[in-house]
Amino acid sequence: MSVKPTEIVRKLKPYIPGEQPRGGKFIKLNTNENPYPAAPDVLIALHQAPFSQLRLYPDPLCMDLRRLLAVKHNAKVSEIFIGNGSDEVLRLLFQAYLEPSETLAMVNPTYSLYPVIAAQIGAKVEVFELGKNGELPPFPDLSAFKVFVIANPNPPYGTFYQPEILERLIASAPGTLFIIDEAYVDFADGDCLALARQYPNAAITRTFSKSSSLAGARLGYALGGEDIINNLYKLKDSYNVDYMTQVMGCAAIRAHSYYKETANHIKDDRAFLTEELRALGFKVYDSQGNFIFAENGDGKSLYEKLKKKKILVRFWDAPRLNVGVRITIGTHEELLALINAIKE
Ligand SMILES: Cc1ncc(COP(=O)(O)O)c(C=O)c1O
Repeated sequence: MSVKPTEIVRKLKPYIPGEQPRGGKFIKLNTNENPYPAAPDVLIALHQAPFSQLRLYPDPLCMDLRRLLAVKHNAKVSEIFIGNGSDEVLRLLFQAYLEPSETLAMVNPTYSLYPVIAAQIGAKVEVFELGKNGELPPFPDLSAFKVFVIANPNPPYGTFYQPEILERLIASAPGTLFIIDEAYVDFADGDCLALARQYPNAAITRTFSKSSSLAGARLGYALGGEDIINNLYKLKDSYNVDYMTQVMGCAAIRAHSYYKETANHIKDDRAFLTEELRALGFKVYDSQGNFIFAENGDGKSLYEKLKKKKILVRFWDAPRLNVGVRITIGTHEELLALINAIKE
């Protein structure tokens, strides 16, 4: 007889990540990974890291990484929390601030992990529908909600919300924690760092998975007031970020000019793909991420047609999203292959 898990686990609908095919030659444009490799200096740092260090536990506080990020963001080390991918950081933020009786406010569509982690805690979720071009809806008084989470730029459309608009929301509800998920910020024209530095009820999260090409290493962070950061340190696993990841992360921060260049290629190709697909009659949202959302009315057929041609894009069989697919910006050659496959 199997042992009964908790009610939360019994009811939980788990997050479904995008396909990660092994073998078979796919052009993989489905999980917003970076098509370019991590900076060469990241590999060099990994080779030069003393092998003997692996015998020991890693730095539980990731001090080297935090010092480098503090300089980068002109912040204090005590305002930075390092996690095992920004998914872990988001989970810890929800866990630190949401009681089961409290409610998370979020928009739809957005990153579909948010409601899953709220459900893991047993918290309630209130969803506000975005406008038809991804614009923010009018919100009621947000003080009714304990946590408000928003990705900026926001997948799958890629809409970027101006910091001034988010600032008005943050200032209107000082008892609500505003989490601004900046996973795609390096592909955008602005950021909300200043809000996280200024408001004690705001924090940003960032990742090395997208612009730093380190999705496989699992590294993310939060930047916010010391209180928020201390609470995350209370909750985390003792050694949540492994030694090799800490080494690679430090090298990646130092390699900022390489990453600026690759982000610029991606931004140029995003403009190229947007224009090409619009010319083919698609509705393509203005995106500031490393992906676009393209609608032709029937996302499923498009997804299946492309998969047969060994090109993977992301399709959700969900209201609003089933009319199109999300396409990660790959290399220029990959995008040319995609456009040809769509035309065939
Ligand atoms: C909005 C958003 N936040 C966070 C993540 C996850 O980032 P990480 O790889 O750091 O866990 C993703 C991944 O696709 C994302 O789309």
